[in-house]
Amino acid sequence: MAPCLSNKVVIITGSGGSIGRAACLRFCQEGATVIGCDIDGERADETAAEVKMAGGLMYSMAPCDLSEPHGAQLLVDFALHHVKRIDILYNNAALAHFSWFSDMSHDLFQKTIKDEVDLVFHACKAVWPLFVAQGHGVIVNTASVSGMICYEVVPGLAHSTAKAGILGMTRHLAMEGAKHNIRANAVSPGLVETQQSKALMEDPEWRGRMEAKIMLGRVGRPQDIAAAAAFLASDDASWITGANLPVDGGTTAW
Ligand SMILES: NC(=O)c1ccc[n+]([C@@H]2O[C@H](COP(=O)([O-])OP(=O)(O)OC[C@H]3O[C@@H](n4cnc5c(N)ncnc54)[C@H](O)[C@@H]3O)[C@@H](O)[C@H]2O)c1
Repeated sequence: MAPCLSNKVVIITGSGGSIGRAACLRFCQEGATVIGCDIDGERADETAAEVKMAGGLMYSMAPCDLSEPHGAQLLVDFALHHVKRIDILYNNAALAHFSWFSDMSHDLFQKTIKDEVDLVFHACKAVWPLFVAQGHGVIVNTASVSGMICYEVVPGLAHSTAKAGILGMTRHLAMEGAKHNIRANAVSPGLVETQQSKALMEDPEWRGRMEAKIMLGRVGRPQDIAAAAAFLASDDASWITGANLPVDGGTTAW
């Protein structure tokens, strides 16, 4: 099959992360030029090196903090400096903070919104005028099954609030973008083994309770999410907008 993202330019945020790295490799394999960014410069560099080794074309801006509008604008400027066009924005970066409600301070709640929602808002805001001027653009946002359901063993009130917010934001971006030929969709991962989840997964009791929710009986891999995001970003999904694609081994289906 022909690569589905030939000649596309994509920004992938959080390129130093587990799903971000898998996505950079997958999007390059599908023919895209990737602009990566991460607040963690070292891991972002590792990703850029892996992509280069695999024969892909990637420019990486790191460290880059997207939780402030300035960081997002610098990223768009960096992309345009190198490639002159942006076709796709894949908002993958986020940092979750967990606490049971009874122990949660308002500060931690607000920090979660900043680190999981504001950074998506800033990146969309920075790229939007360009998408409108070009007359095309695709946004893939990362929500989560936590935006739809609760896990009994996850103290995720703020995280769930944030990811449900991403779903709402995505629908609005789709509605307001349609007249400009801008599509916006969300991918909602279930439990994926990544650097953000690996410490929790070392607890067999916790892992067992989480796995029991997965219809297909296995935890997700970063590549599972990258594949779904590549599809939503591609022209194969040209009649899909405002949608939420759970990639969760069936977690939300029972
Ligand atoms: N791992 C899971 O089980 C799971 C489940 C549902 C949703 N998700 C979502 O998938 C996405 C990727 O998560 P992951 O598990 O690969 O985590 P990860 O920690 O491996 O990757 C996230 C990356 O984003 C970067 N980042 C965080 N804040 C940033 C900022 N302000 N500016 C720039 N970069 C920033 C981090 O440095 C990190 O490299 C996140 O949106 C996460 O909420 C993950």
